[in-house]
Amino acid sequence: MIICKKISAVRDIVKEQRGQGRSIALVPTMGYLHEGHLTLVEEARKSGAFVVMSIFVNPLQFGPNEDFARYPRDLERDAKKAEGAGVDLIFNPEVEEMYPAKNLTHVEVDELGDSLCGASRPGHFRGVTTVVSKLFHIVQPDRAYFGQKDYQQYLIICQMVKDLNFPIEVIGVPIVREEDGLALSSRNIYLSPEQRAEALVLQRSLGEAENWFRQGERSALTIEERIKELIRNESSGEIDYVEIRSAENLHRVEQIEGKIFIALAVRFGSTRLIDNKVLEGM
Ligand code: PAF
Repeated sequence: MIICKKISAVRDIVKEQRGQGRSIALVPTMGYLHEGHLTLVEEARKSGAFVVMSIFVNPLQFGPNEDFARYPRDLERDAKKAEGAGVDLIFNPEVEEMYPAKNLTHVEVDELGDSLCGASRPGHFRGVTTVVSKLFHIVQPDRAYFGQKDYQQYLIICQMVKDLNFPIEVIGVPIVREEDGLALSSRNIYLSPEQRAEALVLQRSLGEAENWFRQGERSALTIEERIKELIRNESSGEIDYVEIRSAENLHRVEQIEGKIFIALAVRFGSTRLIDNKVLEGM
């Protein structure tokens, strides 16, 4: 496995691989890899492509009071995991390599980034779409893999690729969970043992919501309120949002029909966790 810090080196290697007839797969990450990331690599490898993983904690997508400085970074640990999973090349640029001067050009997807995580993290998705566009231009992959834990991010990137005609297939990979149900996230390491135990309420409430849905409940508001009640009763988590939205275009829904997703964001101490469940209504 090769580790590149420079854009020019990545370009050269990708060009050489293409010359040999390989297709290119990109798995964009911010590192501190867990099984969720490795599942993306596993999916990417199925296509027989040359697998590039980017590891870059992107300052542009963090707000001034967010965890950019303390976000976990451990390249040695990540390199072992990535190599074990079959990554061919890690692209791990310094901030100066990606943003050598003040970045004056941004990519922004209207509307989809204003709600849910975008409402509580202004500018976040603009930072994501800008860096993902840069990574797409640098690596020029045929396929790019994104986890559906960040379902809103996944939809926004699909929209961006469509609107800007990137010749890239975006593949969304379902959430990977710990055995007890907690969705894998690099931020889980911030949780104290008590907070971690409390955070299981997210998966539990999504499971309950699915039961209510299967029993015939179709009012989005009723399900949202019942989830909030459950989270408040069973944890000290502070709810950021609980919302049911269309899984195709993020529009709000009143009556559940078609494909929807239930999105949750809850703070446990200073750690904000997100989770979701996609359901197909009749
Ligand atoms: O999902 C992430 O880890 C990041 O938002 C991404 C897509 C790597 C862009 O920095």
